[in-house]
Amino acid sequence: MKKEKPIQRYSAPERINHWVVAFCFIVVSISGLGFFFPSFNWLMNVFGTPQLARILHPFFGVVMFASFLIMFFRYWKHNLINREDITWAKSIHKIAMNEEVGDTGRYNFGQKCVFWAAIGSLLLLLASGIVIWRPYFADAFSIPVIRLALMVHSFAAVLLIIVIMVHIYAALWVKGTITAMVEGWVPAAWAKKHHPRWYREVKAKEQERK
Ligand code: HEM
Repeated sequence: MKKEKPIQRYSAPERINHWVVAFCFIVVSISGLGFFFPSFNWLMNVFGTPQLARILHPFFGVVMFASFLIMFFRYWKHNLINREDITWAKSIHKIAMNEEVGDTGRYNFGQKCVFWAAIGSLLLLLASGIVIWRPYFADAFSIPVIRLALMVHSFAAVLLIIVIMVHIYAALWVKGTITAMVEGWVPAAWAKKHHPRWYREVKAKEQERK
C-alpha cells in the first residue's frame, strides 16, 4: 500500500513566531524565578548579570506578549470550544492511556485549555507588569496598587509556568507532535489518529485544489 505523504501543519513564519515566544518565555521565567526566591537569585544570571536581568526581563516580557498576540489572532478560531471537546474531557482517563476519543479538529480540548490559559495569564502579566515597571510606569501608581500588581504578576507567572510545563510534556509525549513545530509537517497517520476532523478538512481542501 502506498504511504500517504506528510501534511504541513505550520509554515516557517508560524514556527519562528512560536519559537520566539518559547525563547522569551524561558529567559523571562528563569529570571523571574530568580527575582522571586532568594535561593534562586543565581538564576538572574540567565541575562549575564542580575542588573541586566532587571532591565531586560520586562522588555523580553513585552516581546513575548506581542509575539503571542500574533499567534492568538492566527489560532483563536481553531481553539473555540465545541461539543466534541466535552466528549474528550469526559474521557480524559482514556486519553491518559494514549487512546483517542471524539472527532477532534485542529486542536484537542487539552491544547485549547493551554491556549486560553496562556492568553489569560499573559494579559494579567502585561497589565500587572506595567504597574510595577520601574523607572518608567510605577511612579504613576500608589503603593497599594503596586502591591496588588506584584501579587497578580506572581500568581499569573506561576500559572503560566505550570501551563507551559504541561504543554511541553504533551508536545514530547504524543509521538510525532514535536516535528510539527520543528519541521512544519506531521505524518498523515498522526493527523488521522489525533486530529481526524482536521485531517478530513486538509484532504477536502487538497481535492478542491486538484
Ligand atoms: C518551550 C518549549 C515549547 C515547546 C517544546 C513547544 C512545543 C509545541 C509544539 C510541538 C506545538 C505543536 C502542537 C500541535 O500542533 O499539535 C506547539 C504549539 C503551540 N504552542 Fe508551544 N511549545 C513551547 C513553548 C510554548 C510557549 C511558551 C507558548 C505560549 C506562551 C506556546 C504556545 C503554543 C500555542 C498557542 C500552540 C498552538 C496550539 C494551540 O493553539 O492550541 N508554546 N508548541
